[in-house]
Amino acid sequence: MVERLALALFFTFKFPPCYFFIDTANLDQIQEAKDLGVLDGVTTNPSLMAKEGITGEQNILNHYKAICQIVDGAVSAEVISTDFKGMVEEGKRLADLHENIVVKVPMIKEGIKAISWFTENGIETNCTLVFSAGQAILAAKAGATYLSPFIGRIDDSSWDGMELIREIAEIYSIQDYDTLILAASIRSSLHIVQAAKSGADVITAPLAPIMGLLKHPLTDIGLAQFLADHKKANG
Ligand code: E4P
Repeated sequence: MVERLALALFFTFKFPPCYFFIDTANLDQIQEAKDLGVLDGVTTNPSLMAKEGITGEQNILNHYKAICQIVDGAVSAEVISTDFKGMVEEGKRLADLHENIVVKVPMIKEGIKAISWFTENGIETNCTLVFSAGQAILAAKAGATYLSPFIGRIDDSSWDGMELIREIAEIYSIQDYDTLILAASIRSSLHIVQAAKSGADVITAPLAPIMGLLKHPLTDIGLAQFLADHKKANG
């Protein structure tokens, strides 16, 4: 009994459960994922905002506020600027919207400078568009709160996205970096399972792959049988 408790405690501290974010700017889908009771946060990007028809600075800011009203967890809001000064100004405006806003910054030279500035000033960041372990080291050194390696886009170019997650997880563990690995560009339910196995701290996925986790034909067959037997016995 004591041994089991010690083991449970070890795993609790060593491997915290991975967090679940939804990767969309669609309010209905965010609400649907939230209603499942397993949602820890939201990631967006300029393409996802445009897909929802959200344009113009004020509308975009209002939309982030609306997302924060639905989900009590980290909400990544991406800067459009590509220079240090612009990113800092924009990031401050985004962070002021709500305490749960995480400023999403691209993995470029000016972005790393901006992440360092945000870190020093207590603003959480998500370093996005990450495709290599070298980039992951730089973002961690700058103090990024989250790091977003793009699994699906790596797979699309015939490299192995999951291998990158494993490599970063190993480096972060050896170096004891605090940055959380946020597996992004998830394309399937299998990607979610593989990312969890590969050491991702956070997985962000569109609604369909999240809902796909529910599916198994034996569950449906088993439930139909249970209900039929109950009906037969009870009329
Ligand atoms: C991550 O934060 C990005 O918004 C997203 O996962 C990119 O996914 P895509 O490659 O499917 O566009």
